[in-house]
Amino acid sequence: MSNVTAIGVLTSGGDAPGMNAAVRAVVRTAIAMGIKCYGIRRGYNGLIEGDIFEMSIRDVSDIIHRGGTVLYTARSPMFKTEEGMKMAMDNCKKFGINGIVVIGGDGSYRGARDLSLRGIPCVGIPGTIDNDITSTDYTIGFDTAMNTAMHMVDKLRDTTQSHERCSVVEVMGRHAGWLALEAGIAVGATAILVPEVEYDIDRDIVLKINDTQRSGKKHFIIVVAEGVGEVSKVAKQIEEKTGIESRATVLGHVQRGGSPTVRDREMASCMGNYAVKLLSQGIGNRVVSYRSGKIVDFDIFEALNMTKPFDVAKYETANTISI
Ligand code: ADP
Ligand code: F6P
Repeated sequence: MSNVTAIGVLTSGGDAPGMNAAVRAVVRTAIAMGIKCYGIRRGYNGLIEGDIFEMSIRDVSDIIHRGGTVLYTARSPMFKTEEGMKMAMDNCKKFGINGIVVIGGDGSYRGARDLSLRGIPCVGIPGTIDNDITSTDYTIGFDTAMNTAMHMVDKLRDTTQSHERCSVVEVMGRHAGWLALEAGIAVGATAILVPEVEYDIDRDIVLKINDTQRSGKKHFIIVVAEGVGEVSKVAKQIEEKTGIESRATVLGHVQRGGSPTVRDREMASCMGNYAVKLLSQGIGNRVVSYRSGKIVDFDIFEALNMTKPFDVAKYETANTISI
């Protein structure tokens, strides 16, 4: 029998729609199991500064449908220092916290690993719109962000069509093209550029525009992941090489907000519940993951060393049907 009496929950790194649903599930599962639950504000900063408060089941009412995170989030360079880690450990002792659920990305998992190594069992839950966490097929926030991007590009398509232009749209993803790939397919993009696949402007865009133009296409949408480079430059090159008036649009942080979709609320709720069940058994240093249609868990060290190859087959499908 484990002696877990109190756990903490924090959100860390870039926020993602569905984080609130995960916090709600963590708090309510813990309380249902007779475990106290503390909210830790602003990620690891709150742990260092002692910005920690006990949460009741009603503290998480009316948040399941809200984007952002009621616990706030932050990036905490201080947490990576010995001094910061010591302050965090002191606060765990002070509040009697003997388990923490960390909702965030790979960086946040590294912090959870460090705390686990020092004797505070931690469980990570994947929260990022990028879907780039290697140990899981799905990350909380991805579905909402894809839908947001799709709706925004649908609006853009109207004006692109009226003016017979080419719109070059940047979606988020500094290191990952998952969002660009899925949103690009959903909006029927003529071309999708991602950091994982090298591109050639003439072969992959100009030629394609020329070909589709010959078969009667009059407007073009090019979806570009943030990590590829400046969309304004791509738009300028397209205009120079094809003579088609081109405009660049950066969707930006709007993709990180909004009410979470069914998928994100449901996934977050189940993962939150799963994480607390692990901690309640005294199991830490784990990450909750979605693999082959099931929620499972992995050792954090193992998870951080996994790879997640980009879905090149799907990328090729997108190219095939964008003619
Ligand atoms: P994400 O969790 O979305 O990947 P970051 O990479 O910014 O976001 O990480 C969030 C926070 O996790 C950092 O601000 C830091 O406090 C902590 N963190 C990141 N990397 C490490 C690391 N190598 N060791 C310890 N803590 C880390
Ligand atoms: O990791 C999520 C993400 O939204 C990336 O897609 C993007 O590159 C980055 O965060 C932006 O971070 P910031 O909030 O610091 O601008």
